[in-house]
Amino acid sequence: MPAGLGTSARKFHSISLNRQPGVPFEGDEDGASPITDTAALSAQLLQSDATSAIAQLQRYGKAVPLPSRRSDGAGNAQRLRAPKNYMFAHAATGIPKFENRIPLAKREAVVAAKGDRSGQSGSGKDVAAIDPPEEEMATSAGEDAFFHRTDALGIADGVGGWAGVKDADPSLFARRLMHHVSLEIQRYEDIDDEMFSHYYDAAPVDILRRAYEFTLGEMEALAMRGSSTACVVILRGDELRVANLGDCGLTVVRQGDMVYRTEEQQHSFNYPYQLGTEAHSDRPSDAQVFRLKIQKGDVIIVGSDGVFDNLFDEDILEEVNQHLPPAMRSEGQPELKYSTDSLWYESQQPGDRLEALCRNGGPDKTVEVAPSSTTKVVAGAPKLSLPQFHIDPHAISLAIAKRAKLVSEDTRYTESPFQMRAMQEGLYYQGGKRDDITVVVAVVTDLEDSPDPSYHKPARSEAFKRLTKDDLAYFKTIMPSETVLATAQVGGTADAIELEGFNADWLNKYRGDSQLVLRPKTTEQVSQILQYCSTHRIAVVPQGGNTGLVGGSVPVHDEVVLSLRNMSKIRSYDELSGILVCDAGCVLEELGNYVGERGHVMPLDLGAKGSCHIGGNVAANAGGIRFLRYGSLHGSVLGLEVVLADGTVLDNLSTLRKDNTGYDLKQLFIGSEGTLGVVTGVSVATPQKPSAVNVAVLGVPTYECVQRAFKLARKRCGEVLSAYEFWDANCMGAVLRHHELKSPLGAEFPFYVLIETSGSNKEHDDEKLGALLEELMEEGIAEDGALAQDDSQIARMWSMREGIPESLGKTGPTYKYDVSIPIPVLYDIVGDIARRLETAGLYKPGDATRPVKLVCGYGHIGDGNLHLNVVAERFEDRVTEIFEPYVYEWVASHRGSISAEHGVGLMKRDYLRYSKSPEMIAYMKRVKDLFDPNHILNPYKVV
Ligand code: FAD
Ligand code: MLT
Ligand code: ZN
Repeated sequence: MPAGLGTSARKFHSISLNRQPGVPFEGDEDGASPITDTAALSAQLLQSDATSAIAQLQRYGKAVPLPSRRSDGAGNAQRLRAPKNYMFAHAATGIPKFENRIPLAKREAVVAAKGDRSGQSGSGKDVAAIDPPEEEMATSAGEDAFFHRTDALGIADGVGGWAGVKDADPSLFARRLMHHVSLEIQRYEDIDDEMFSHYYDAAPVDILRRAYEFTLGEMEALAMRGSSTACVVILRGDELRVANLGDCGLTVVRQGDMVYRTEEQQHSFNYPYQLGTEAHSDRPSDAQVFRLKIQKGDVIIVGSDGVFDNLFDEDILEEVNQHLPPAMRSEGQPELKYSTDSLWYESQQPGDRLEALCRNGGPDKTVEVAPSSTTKVVAGAPKLSLPQFHIDPHAISLAIAKRAKLVSEDTRYTESPFQMRAMQEGLYYQGGKRDDITVVVAVVTDLEDSPDPSYHKPARSEAFKRLTKDDLAYFKTIMPSETVLATAQVGGTADAIELEGFNADWLNKYRGDSQLVLRPKTTEQVSQILQYCSTHRIAVVPQGGNTGLVGGSVPVHDEVVLSLRNMSKIRSYDELSGILVCDAGCVLEELGNYVGERGHVMPLDLGAKGSCHIGGNVAANAGGIRFLRYGSLHGSVLGLEVVLADGTVLDNLSTLRKDNTGYDLKQLFIGSEGTLGVVTGVSVATPQKPSAVNVAVLGVPTYECVQRAFKLARKRCGEVLSAYEFWDANCMGAVLRHHELKSPLGAEFPFYVLIETSGSNKEHDDEKLGALLEELMEEGIAEDGALAQDDSQIARMWSMREGIPESLGKTGPTYKYDVSIPIPVLYDIVGDIARRLETAGLYKPGDATRPVKLVCGYGHIGDGNLHLNVVAERFEDRVTEIFEPYVYEWVASHRGSISAEHGVGLMKRDYLRYSKSPEMIAYMKRVKDLFDPNHILNPYKVV
């Protein structure tokens, strides 16, 4: 049972009949809602008579169309009430109740019917065409359907109860309804469309009405039946305009408290208001229609009843709060304060009950509010001045959907909102309510804010095809269906949750929106996939263990993820030469174990070894902790099998140590980060396992001493020195806090050094290392030291160093820079960045209230490679801009490299010029053009 469930005081959606079904209101017949009247007023405003138009618009409570300044006729500029412009950062999660719920044949019928939507009357009979075939604007999750945009959200919940009825498909009805709603909203942006000039007048009930007509027309043309509830939300300025018909719900969370939620419209228990093909269906004008004033930072949640029948408001609030930055969380217990003080709202129809629960008089007093037909404006909304914030709508939607799913599947659950409501009605019911679950989440941000402030996404290239179910069908013909993971959006049945691990990166900083993951088992399948993608211009992201740290391993938008994890066979191993040939998807640690049992080691090792693949290592040209000893993969990799973008297989799986027959093409793919080809096989030389390994950790007083110790270590132990790593006190603090480790040293030191020797003569190595340690202590270079006595101590010392990235991640969102700089100045940049942040007031060591928590440095000092890390409260521009592009300028001024080992990916694509000349970048682009002329491989990355 999820935490927080099962407490006694519960709020749940109440049932209310806002009026008797079937009794029309005046004005319903022609479908016009009062808000359309403002179109004329807006036109008037744009013509000349501004003052009277404004007065009228204000009487209607309408936002005034831009421009915000106009002449009053006497030559004086007059300031109009210009709304604050907001937009949504938005995401959605849909979980169908059953797999394959949508009858595929029916969906095909719809898409197959071609034609032009424009000019249709929508009356049904004369609808010859069904759908613009190019793009489906809504997504199905079982019988739910939804869409989300920066200015609008929509959910329709196809009504159950059609089961067994011939030609009924409520799922299709719901999806087409949302498709048309989305298209209708799009019209306000199309300068050639008459709706363009009515942008600020847009009314969701009108949009719903027009979309409904198209949907009815389509259903009639297909001779199909269905019905659904619907909630349409549009954003204009700072005003949320909502039309909600039936049992979907909308909730607003502000600063951690729930300040608003809708109630359901039900004709009777579990029988919601609904639009549909039947004559007795309700109409769009029956929707509850209202507006809310919103603020930056508000979190808006629109859900199908699969959410609200399974989660209480407290549950939803709890999930949202967990994803708010601390400064925006409710102080103490989050509250359900449906306060008229914090929202401005207005009823559009007489008799609508906006919010049944409204606490005005004190924490326990529940007051019912039933606004009249007159405009009701509640002033006094507190003005919040929020810092820039990062709230992840995707994470919130996922958390709420997962929690609702847990309850929905629990048949023994005793306290679901649905169950309580049933009991109120005198009906027996136990458990959660099994239903399709859809959660659309929007976070209100300033128009000028990036919708995802953690990084700046390049716009999606329209050169790439959007996937259709035909594409999915093709992939299923070339590979086993269990290796294809597709969401309903592209005709599959997977939950968005199942794709989460492929869409989000290890740092939880970069996130794509792929709807399709392909996990081929053979090189042949990879070849067929790429051939198809190349022909159809479908963008592809090759993915290994997804441990990359520069945003290179996850999609930016909707690229297909090509995961190599099903290709994990060892093809051959020669114990004499130590040459290993294996599939690209073999996990590095497993390879290490395999060759270890045969007396060898892998030539590279790194903290992510338990997850990363050898193919990913090659594609990233990973460095790691054995680089000092065995050098780069450019030396250890003897051959590669690579599938090019057009499906051509380049078989260069050589096992020769020496091969001088012309250009060494494989080198181009090492470090190409998935942009030139997909590595499917690797041939690598594995060195002999050293029979004697020693590890020591030292406490060192200054960075100068870290360098002196390195110099001495090379001098005294040169031929056996296999690693020389360092980290500072801030790293040590984090790693000891987050891992169950004890420092092997008695006290704390500004710097720590790990020295490893690997040789074949234990006595000899012990002697050498012992002498080195003594000398270091005597010279005062090291103030304390510990020498591992057995393998488990060696492992513990290494896990202290290797655990740093993870422990920083647990401390907070981490900015990572991995740079090569000359060793003498290597650590200077850490102090420099800390000072810049302090000067900007963003960081003060030990002050937890500042946006930056930690600035620290560690790395492979033996390779001149520093990892500068900044741990913050959240990823936000005011922090980022302190060190970007400053770090890159700093590195360039020391003739360093902006990436020593993690690569360029998405993170450094725009900064490549700091390490590569324009001529080199031009040639890199030519290489890219040669291997991948359509640029389908890992687009938006590297060059
Ligand atoms: P992914 O992360 O999946 O992909 C990395 C890149 O390679 C992406 O651009 C992807 O598109 C591409 N790619 C993946 N597989 C293929 C393929 N088969 N064909 C073509 N392209 C492909 N890096 C270091 O250099 N040194 C370290 O010490 C180090 N330590 C790390 C420690 C931790 C805890 C973590 C999380 C990461 C670390 N990394 C380190 C970063 C990372 O580069 C490595 O973990 C690893 O090399 C990535 O391998 P992967 O299989 O996870 O590749
Ligand atoms: C490391 O050396 O630990 C890795 O490169 C990962 C990191 O920089 O965090
Ligand atoms: Zn590293």
